[in-house]
Amino acid sequence: MPEPARCSAVVCGVGASLPAHTVSNEDLAAQLDTSDTWIHQRTGISHRHVTQPGTSTADLATQAAARALKSAGRRHVDAVVLATATPDDQLPATAPAVASRLGLHEACAFDVAAVCTGFVYALATATGLITAGTAHSALVIGADRLSHLCACDDRTTRPLFGDGAGALVLRRGTPGEPGSTGPFILGSDGEHAGLLRAPHGGHLRMQGPELFRHAVTRMSTAAQAAARAAGWPLQDIDHLVPHQANARITNAVSDRLHIPPHARLSNIADRGNTSAASIPLLLSEASADGRLQAGHRLLICAFGAGLTWGATTLTWPALPAHPERSQPCTTT
Ligand code: UT7
Repeated sequence: MPEPARCSAVVCGVGASLPAHTVSNEDLAAQLDTSDTWIHQRTGISHRHVTQPGTSTADLATQAAARALKSAGRRHVDAVVLATATPDDQLPATAPAVASRLGLHEACAFDVAAVCTGFVYALATATGLITAGTAHSALVIGADRLSHLCACDDRTTRPLFGDGAGALVLRRGTPGEPGSTGPFILGSDGEHAGLLRAPHGGHLRMQGPELFRHAVTRMSTAAQAAARAAGWPLQDIDHLVPHQANARITNAVSDRLHIPPHARLSNIADRGNTSAASIPLLLSEASADGRLQAGHRLLICAFGAGLTWGATTLTWPALPAHPERSQPCTTT
């Protein structure tokens, strides 16, 4: 029999960052053979935030992490785990630069590359560092700028992707305490890597309809398994928190899980698909605007290139109210 866990990783802070510049469907329709109607009907997206030259992934990640640390009332963590598919350099990883800019000198810091599933993988990794006793606290950040991997003339990818970052602070706590991360379900299937790929130095290429089918199946199966592993009946879930790939995908996943419309968290209309940032960005925004309340049971699931997928559960903690959390988080 597995030994019961002696400690858990507990969420104690949340923050986000978005570039100030937005691109509407009309802006795209002026440049590409597309329309607001097509994009809205097929994806649920109206506009997305996009970084301008001069703003890096580290900029977005640092701002989101600084806000998360502030909301946690902390200055220090032992580890920084950054989920990103758009690091600022091929090497080194972007996380050490983020840690250094936050004043976290000598903290363990590394990137996790699992594309749109990256945040769930990073959360699992940080949870493991804490429960193994390697770290007492950690920042888990999702930050991506996938808009910069899309070819200017590609109408199949440009409407989908936006840029942004979100972050959670984790601390050591007791099992079952509100904010504790639940069991993780993680998986991959490299045989289908070609469905969404950006070769070195090249643009993103996507086979959308086939990817769509995998996304629905993998996210709903992983979410069901995570709820089962946590011992949570699906009808007890207060919010499904799915990676924001496409409103039709997240609705199909919710339908399969019988999650009613009021329990489906979404921000895709105004953010697009922000890859590894989408889940922590959604958590930050929903916490700030009151959709998330202490004690709410969340079922988190993600799917991305790789293929990769993952899911977990989380009871939302009581976080100290912080005025900045309800203000727009923007960088240039
Ligand atoms: O984050 C995780 C990874 N990402 C995903 O999982 C994304 C998964 N895929 C999708 O979200 C959807 O497949 C898309 C939004 C990418 C595309 O939607 P779709 O309903 O699967 O459309 P489609 O690719 O089957 O294209 C339908 C039609 C085609 O024209 P014909 O062949 O019917 O004449 C496309 O050429 O729409 C055309 N089309 C467009 N038309 C206007 C494709 N892109 C566009 C566009 N504007 N931007």
